[in-house]
Amino acid sequence: MITAGPTREALDPVRYLSNHSSGKMGYALAAACAARGAQVTLVSGPVALATPPGVARVDVLSACEMLAAVEAALPCELFIGCAAVADYRAASVAEHKLKKGDDTSGMTLELVRNPDIVATVAARAERPFCVGFAAETQALETHAGDKLLRKRLDLIVANDVSQAGLGFGSDDNAATLLWREADEVRRQALSPQPKTALATAILDHLVPRLP
Ligand code: C5P
Repeated sequence: MITAGPTREALDPVRYLSNHSSGKMGYALAAACAARGAQVTLVSGPVALATPPGVARVDVLSACEMLAAVEAALPCELFIGCAAVADYRAASVAEHKLKKGDDTSGMTLELVRNPDIVATVAARAERPFCVGFAAETQALETHAGDKLLRKRLDLIVANDVSQAGLGFGSDDNAATLLWREADEVRRQALSPQPKTALATAILDHLVPRLP
């Protein structure tokens, strides 16, 4: 099972919070898994991409919907959390379009934390092999290493989204894989390459490690 794309967190009937995730990396992984004969469920936020051949796609909007779709599709052997899940959602979604109030200086939105989908899956007693992504703009390996341990992942794919032409929205990406082995965090750098090739490199690394 793979999550991909952004989530969209409604503020009112016409507005939402989201991010620039294109879904390309998750879709490339889904295509690469299906090409290797895996039965793939792709839980996707709103993206403008075609479903890869042989992949069962479940469309969702919000992080809460994504978690429910993921839990409904468990168990699985491999879970790759590639979605750029919004960390927060509106504390309450307005029933009607929010109006500009009398306060001309601004407005304050109250946000609450979204569930962490990959960490929720990784915390289950009967858990799949869990892979996460870490898009960072600074201290890439430190932040990614922390997430690997905190979210109890088996592998994290870290990428520096501050580099022009790589990461969010683009066709290319560079990444560092981090995983735990013999109580140490090991690393492997993967050079800048198309996301389709990176998907193959990630699977080449993880498939021999599947239980
Ligand atoms: O903490 P951060 O958002 O940087 O972690 C990124 C990783 O965690 C990605 O694998 C992403 O899919 C996953 N994630 C998630 N649910 C969240 C936030 C992140 O599954 N609410």
